[in-house]
Amino acid sequence: MYQIIKVGDPILREKAAEVRRFNKNLHDLLDGMLETLRSCGNGVGIAAPQVGVSKRVVVMEIDDEVYELVNPVIVSKKGRDVDIEGCLSVPNRHGKVTRAARVKVEAQDRFGNPYTLEAKNLVARCVQHECDHLDGVLFIDVMSEEVEVEE
Ligand code: NI
Repeated sequence: MYQIIKVGDPILREKAAEVRRFNKNLHDLLDGMLETLRSCGNGVGIAAPQVGVSKRVVVMEIDDEVYELVNPVIVSKKGRDVDIEGCLSVPNRHGKVTRAARVKVEAQDRFGNPYTLEAKNLVARCVQHECDHLDGVLFIDVMSEEVEVEE
C-alpha cells in the first residue's frame, strides 16, 4: 500500500520514465497501486507518479474490470465529451474537463506483451486523465471551469 502524493509535490509534474523491466518490482507496483486505489474508495484510476514512482504505469478499475497499462500511448482520439473530474492527488476540487469521447490506446501488460485498448465513456476519460499524469499534467491544468461537488 502506498500513500497518495498530493498536488504541490514536484514528482507529479515530472515526465515519467518508460518501463523497461517487466519484473517483480513492476508486479509489486501494479498490485500495490490497485490496493491503494481500492482503499481510496472513490477513485477509478491511479498513475504511478501519484504513489511516488515516476514510471509510465497506470491502473484503473471501472465496473469491476481492472486495467493495467504499462507505457500507454493514446494513438487516436474521436469525438468530444465534457464531464466533471476529480483526482486523488487534488483533494476536494473538481472541474469540467473536455476529453475525447473515444480513444485507442497502445500499451503493454505486466509481462511486456503489447495490446490495444479501445475505450469509450468513463474508461476513455480515465485513460486520458491518467496518461496526463505520466506527463506531469493534472486536471486542474486543463479544466474549463471549477465546480463544487458534494463529497
Ligand atoms: Ni488523477
